[in-house]
Amino acid sequence: MYRSTIAGIGFYVPENVYTNSDLTRFMETSDEWIRERTGIQERRFADRYGETTTTMAIKAAEAALERAGTTAQDIDFIIFATLTPDYYFPGCGVLLQREMGMREIGALDVRNQCSGFVYALSVADQFIKTGMYKNILVVGSEKHSFAMDFATRSRNVSVIFGDGAGAAVLQPTEEPGKGILSTHLHSDGADAELLAMYYPGAHANKWLSDAKPFPEQELGGLFLTAEQLESGAALPYMDGPAVFKKAVVKFPEVIKEALAANGLSEKDIDMLIPHQANLRISQYVQKLLGLSDSQVFNNIQKYGNTTAASIPIALSEAWESGKIKSGDLICLAAFGSGFTWASALIRW
Ligand code: ACO
Repeated sequence: MYRSTIAGIGFYVPENVYTNSDLTRFMETSDEWIRERTGIQERRFADRYGETTTTMAIKAAEAALERAGTTAQDIDFIIFATLTPDYYFPGCGVLLQREMGMREIGALDVRNQCSGFVYALSVADQFIKTGMYKNILVVGSEKHSFAMDFATRSRNVSVIFGDGAGAAVLQPTEEPGKGILSTHLHSDGADAELLAMYYPGAHANKWLSDAKPFPEQELGGLFLTAEQLESGAALPYMDGPAVFKKAVVKFPEVIKEALAANGLSEKDIDMLIPHQANLRISQYVQKLLGLSDSQVFNNIQKYGNTTAASIPIALSEAWESGKIKSGDLICLAAFGSGFTWASALIRW
């Protein structure tokens, strides 16, 4: 049976840099608060009308394709992870297929937020291992800047996130010991509402105890109401402390699971690329696992949390800067809204 290998990776971040101090133009916050709690110093925001989640993904994909020595015409399948799609539907996968002039191949959109890229990688891995496809493009891309609220009421959320995209081309390999060794995926919906955007949605407030009642109306028109928009109810919600507590348990758990499944231990990891949720979470996880600074890659300081894009951006940047070499053991690990969490172990 084949293994999947990452034949090429690439990333794209927009040119516009917003430092923590820049954000004080929009809300009551400070460089000190943001750095202390999150480690973030600056983030990139897409050109407001010129760039979209899809166009950023294309730039990352072009770099990945070139490095894989392949073209858009060779791609057999697209998997696109994002929580900030260009349209509510259809997903960004078909937009990428159209804009890159690809054949009439399958395009799957993944909605697993911060775990989206690792989930997408796992799906791609299964298709490669069974011999179904030979070139799969996996992307994670986010344009948070268009959707977030930059008023003080949303500052605990909006200072964290940034825009960008990352992509990988997966191909089969028969080289012994190389490629994706395993992926592990998990979820627990018990706290689904603790990191979520409730509207637009069809839930009819079923699980939201403090939501205002919907207007009397027999049918239609309640997916997103003017009142939800005006009141700010249609903005992302995050219980930061609850996310922190769960993340620092599930990150180490899923990393250890990956290592145990392959008869490996923490000391065998050459590079851990954690989802760039928050530098404090990454540091906590590093400490719990007893990893050295050289075994963990973080770039949230420059880009903020780019959700589904954060792992492929970090992986690409680590590879570009020579921190990942052939034969290295790479561990990807993610945790996010859902809650969902996941890991992938790769022999580069
Ligand atoms: N600037 C200044 N003050 C702020 C800001 C801000 N940007 N945001 C919140 N505050 C204030 C609050 O209003 C509050 O003030 P009060 O005490 O007067 O009421 C105070 O800071 C503490 O607010 P909390 O929300 O409790 O802040 P906390 O100390 O928990 O830090 C944070 C918030 C950084 C989000 C933290 O909870 C955390 O790290 N959580 C992990 C969640 C996370 O990292 N999510 C990333 C995205 S999800 C993912 O990728 C998995």
